[in-house]
Amino acid sequence: MRPTMDKNRIIIFDTTMRDGEQSPGASMNLHEKLRIAQALEEMGVDVIEAGFPIASNGDFEAVRDIAKVVKQSVVCGLARAARGDIERCAEAIKPAERGRIHTFISTSPLHMKYKLQMAPDDVYAAVTESVTRARSFTDDVEWSAEDGSRTEHDFLCRCVEAAIRAGAGTINIPDTVGYSVPDEFGALISMLFNRVPNIDQAVISVHCHNDLGLAVANSLAAVRAGARQIECTVNGLGERAGNAAMEEVVMALRTRNDLMPFTTGIRTEHITRTSRLVSAVTGFVVQPNKAIVGANAFAHESGIHQDGMLKHQGTYEIMTPESVGLTQSKLVLGKHSGRHAFKEKLKELGYEMGDNALEDAFRRFKEVADRKKEVFEEDIVALVDDELSRAHDRVRFVSLDVVCGSKHRPPSAELELEIDDETCSVKTTGTGPIDAIFVAVKTLFPHEARLQLFQVHAVTQGTDAQAEVTVRLEENGKTVNGQGADTDTLVASARAYVNALNKLLEKREKTAPSALSA
Ligand code: KIV
Ligand code: ZN
Repeated sequence: MRPTMDKNRIIIFDTTMRDGEQSPGASMNLHEKLRIAQALEEMGVDVIEAGFPIASNGDFEAVRDIAKVVKQSVVCGLARAARGDIERCAEAIKPAERGRIHTFISTSPLHMKYKLQMAPDDVYAAVTESVTRARSFTDDVEWSAEDGSRTEHDFLCRCVEAAIRAGAGTINIPDTVGYSVPDEFGALISMLFNRVPNIDQAVISVHCHNDLGLAVANSLAAVRAGARQIECTVNGLGERAGNAAMEEVVMALRTRNDLMPFTTGIRTEHITRTSRLVSAVTGFVVQPNKAIVGANAFAHESGIHQDGMLKHQGTYEIMTPESVGLTQSKLVLGKHSGRHAFKEKLKELGYEMGDNALEDAFRRFKEVADRKKEVFEEDIVALVDDELSRAHDRVRFVSLDVVCGSKHRPPSAELELEIDDETCSVKTTGTGPIDAIFVAVKTLFPHEARLQLFQVHAVTQGTDAQAEVTVRLEENGKTVNGQGADTDTLVASARAYVNALNKLLEKREKTAPSALSA
């Protein structure tokens, strides 16, 4: 059934890879975007906004390649109200089974005067022109009134009416700067339903930013006023304070169905896994007390709460951890498990790997199983993600020996890398072991990138847990995030740095082929 057929069905529009990626530092490469798109599709997201094709070749390729593989969700690209933008977007979504062009223009007095430097009449004309042009490429066109919540009502009504008349099937009202409050935002949507004569010919959508921490509340108020599409991101990723968090919107609708009798197509058990994937790829950690996906969201520490929980789960839990896919760490495999069992486990976890990648992942699994008494699902996910993220690497980690903690000599690292299939090694010192490792990478592969973030996260509990390290590097204003996992935190750090370096090389290659060499 198409989402729009049921009047209480809320369309979930994910913009993690477009608005989410606009957060400084949250860059994702093509391979990572494809993995996120697959996770979103499996989760049941209705519309995936995969990028802004005119913005860069990388964005164009991401939208096009996602359009090639995603079959269940609509694949959407963003375009300003300009011919070039719309044509580029149309080209990118062409391979999609169901493709959407999302075109927007600012409608608030402030944006029109200072940002666009356009008169309202010209903006009004651009609405009809851009939607008409977009419709010449696809039947599925969405139009957004940027800074809609600060737009004069008369003008907003005129623009919405014009966009619908020109063929937009979805009208999106953004609270671009996260300024609105729930009563006001709900009233804005009701106002549109009362005043725009052709409003019944479109789905009304909302897109709320979280500058005042109200993005989810504003989105829900809009739904109660008649909106039927919510634009949101996984973990609330997005510019400044982010966008409405998908997991919060979806679980609020599900948990308070008594007050809000609406449904979504989201398979909520996929929430935790998708949240972890987005967090690992972007290096944006989820705060522990974040609703739904924070590490403490289902933890009960105080004695009174624990006692209550033992008597009845409902005393302190309004939804179950299982409903968002949070299960007890499952002991899965041991060091005697064979290739077949490993492959079956990967299948169950949703991974399809080629023979070579599978062999490498199996070897890594054996190493982890040798060092760690118990191997959990989280360990397998971490090492397979690590393996997948380095499939096309030019620079590869081979080995590392570190000396540290001694009063008598400086910390040193002896690092072996494979660069373009040639093995090389170096021994360096540093102010600490991590510094020594990063100096070693820089010595073997000289580069000017600056370290912006170094972050360690334990995959499971216990001192033998695998460490998952994120390294963010910046070069000429472009950032990349590298990940590495290992039971040895220092090895994980070296792997993460090398992974970030490879992503930087890939980025350089896309912008200037001659800059490829170190
Ligand atoms: O916040 C915003 O207004 C946007 C639009 C482009 C939809 O992201
Ligand atoms: Zn936005």
